[in-house]
Amino acid sequence: MSEKLNRLFDYQKDIAEAGGEKRIAKQHQKGKLTARERLDLLFDEGTFVEIDAFVRHRCTNFGMEKDRPLTDGVVTGYGKVNGRLVYAYAQDFTITGGSLGEMHAGKIVKVQEMALKMGAPIVGLNDSGGARIQEAVDALSGYGSIFYQNVMASGTIPQITAIMGPCAGGAVYSPALTDFIFMVDQTSQMFITGPAVIKSVTGEEVTADELGGAFTHNSTSGVAQFMASDDKECIEQIKVLLDFLPSNNQEVAPIYEEQENINARIDSLNEIIPADSNRPYDMYEVIASLVDDGDYFEYQSEFAKNIITTFARINGQSVGIIANQPSVMAGCLDINASDKSARFIRTCDAFNIPLVNLVDVPGFLPGTTQEYGGIIRHGAKMLYAYSEATVPKITVIVRKAYGGSYLAMCSKELGADLVYAWPSAEVAVMGPDGAANIIFRKDIKNSDNPEQTRADKIADYKHEFATPYKAAERGYVDDVIEPALTRIRLADALDMLMSKRQSLPLKKHGNVPL
Ligand code: HXC
Repeated sequence: MSEKLNRLFDYQKDIAEAGGEKRIAKQHQKGKLTARERLDLLFDEGTFVEIDAFVRHRCTNFGMEKDRPLTDGVVTGYGKVNGRLVYAYAQDFTITGGSLGEMHAGKIVKVQEMALKMGAPIVGLNDSGGARIQEAVDALSGYGSIFYQNVMASGTIPQITAIMGPCAGGAVYSPALTDFIFMVDQTSQMFITGPAVIKSVTGEEVTADELGGAFTHNSTSGVAQFMASDDKECIEQIKVLLDFLPSNNQEVAPIYEEQENINARIDSLNEIIPADSNRPYDMYEVIASLVDDGDYFEYQSEFAKNIITTFARINGQSVGIIANQPSVMAGCLDINASDKSARFIRTCDAFNIPLVNLVDVPGFLPGTTQEYGGIIRHGAKMLYAYSEATVPKITVIVRKAYGGSYLAMCSKELGADLVYAWPSAEVAVMGPDGAANIIFRKDIKNSDNPEQTRADKIADYKHEFATPYKAAERGYVDDVIEPALTRIRLADALDMLMSKRQSLPLKKHGNVPL
């Protein structure tokens, strides 16, 4: 037996040595951890169980049969993250550059299938030179199978991808099909065609980081949702995110302890709205006041900053907050804000996370760039996502709530279960200036002092219509509340809505305006 055991131990030694000391050192020199080091950080100590470590490729092209490393360049398995079951795969750049061939892909597909069957999240740690060139169409087929599994699992289990090295060509589409993409600053890139190809085709000169680095995809393209300064921080962030999510679409997110201070007034909120309704304030201050420990985990913090999308907890319950940010573009909705929030709303709805909407929106952003870019199509995504969402939906109108942009922030008609308004709320079909100019056009034109008349009419309109009370008279607003009591009211509403059950009409699937 000892001979047989020794054979196993030799295999295990080989598996642990991965691509060898030199390649591991090179990986560290680049500021990157190895696949195994990353998994060690992700999983609770001693819980990771590796599967398929004995897998090797079976390619014979270009003399490949002479070099058949164990694991085939990807470590796969499962374990516990903060006590809950999670599946993972980590591409090992020290073995054939983490490149993906038939068997490598088969290992990933196996854990994808297991995660779906067991109803547990899957985390992919990507660090790869892409399709293993020697394996040709087998590599291509491998990607296809992964994409298919990504789509099958979509909306059922949380799928999280971290880009921790190169990710180029069609390889980017598995991450893009998952729910969340993390990127590590300076050491990760995603692009369809790299800088050299771009230079030869369009003549543009761009570095790999400018083209597809973490900041680019978090701030400009909106492809990624989270960015970390190094591998360690990235994995810590993934663990924080997992704690906000249920294991699958049949469960609710972990519920934390009820807060001792949940019935405390927050008097600062009575003072936060400036007297002049055209002056900005920082919506982050409102959010921090409303959530447990002032703590929130923001989704796409660098993209479309005119809207804030963030996970947080209120009295221990996970919520997704969507809030207009009056200090950026006056909080107007534009194409990017619509895309960002629609995706976030659908993500929360898929995973049973209640939505809290903080509204201060003057309108959709005017301009040809927006119209030609399809703001109609993009804005429609928000309306669609809110209407379709069956999770508890609570809307708090903080200040402006004008026209279609108000509806797009989840008005009563789009299925908000409760709509609260602060006394500072201005709920109307359009802003007072525009409204007064239209309905009092003749009075203004025929007046001896048109400017004074215009100012008077705007003030009259504002006093009469830009308030929460007209909407409350009709029941479009359920209650007008003192801002200091908002956290208490939200906690109470979330508690009441916990048993909400709503089904959509039977259909194959809706036709979201993509
Ligand atoms: C096979 C690969 C490989 C690949 C890297 N390697 N990429 N082997 N297929 N795609 C191997 C290298 O030969 C090397 O082997 C080891 O991995 C490390 O690579 P280095 O080049 O030394 O590392 P580095 O200098 O850090 O450069 C990393 C890199 C570069 C930028 C990723 O390797 C590179 O450009 N690779 C090719 C990228 C590419 O064109 N991929 C195919 C894209 S097509 P040794 O033995 O020397 O250690 C594609 C289509 C997918 O992905 C379609 C899906 C739908």
